[in-house]
Amino acid sequence: MRFSSIIVGSMLAVAATCASHGETGDSVRGRQEDMKTMSMAAKQLSGYFSGKRTYDVDDFIASAKEISARSGNRLSARFTTDIAAEGSNASPSIIDDRTKFDALARDLERYSRQVADSAKGGDMLPPEMKMRSGEVLEGGPFARKKANADIASFSSEHAFHMMLQTCTACHAAFRLKRQ
Ligand code: HEC
Repeated sequence: MRFSSIIVGSMLAVAATCASHGETGDSVRGRQEDMKTMSMAAKQLSGYFSGKRTYDVDDFIASAKEISARSGNRLSARFTTDIAAEGSNASPSIIDDRTKFDALARDLERYSRQVADSAKGGDMLPPEMKMRSGEVLEGGPFARKKANADIASFSSEHAFHMMLQTCTACHAAFRLKRQ
């Protein structure tokens, strides 16, 4: 919980510093908007898991879908042009390592879909959506690559953590550091 809110918090801090750019073109602005929308949605979800936000399954699912709708092919397509463009922090390594970039975009889709698919109704976030004890050990950046069938058995919270790790992994590899 703590871990995920720290990650989400630092992403929002990044979004806040990205407000103004000089001659940023539409394609760059469009993908940065998508990223900011995903960041807000991740913050909402984090609030539900931590109990800070009053649980509402419809809003929970809608937030997860804000992310899945901007992942996968749509995310990949957002980064086919204007990689080294004005106002963009996209790394040229996206061009060199397209396969890895596209795989991370697909992972984001698979995990965010599972966050939504495993959501259940209730007055409070149902316990079965929480991370199970075995899952804590499975996760982490060095975990074996998961097949779709494995992901379908993830608790919502575990899928959420894996989703956040996918954001972080892609940024580490493909987003330039701000000066
Ligand atoms: C497949 C790679 C990839 C994934 C996955 C990814 N991002 Fe990004 N993200 C990028 C790149 C590249 C940029 C820099 C875009 C640019 O400046 O043109 C970026 C930029 C951002 C920004 C700054 C936007 C701005 O206004 O400049 C935020 C915030 C962000 N991402 C949040 C997220 C969140 C939250 C997730 C996960 C839910 C996520 N990203 C998943 C690649 C990714």
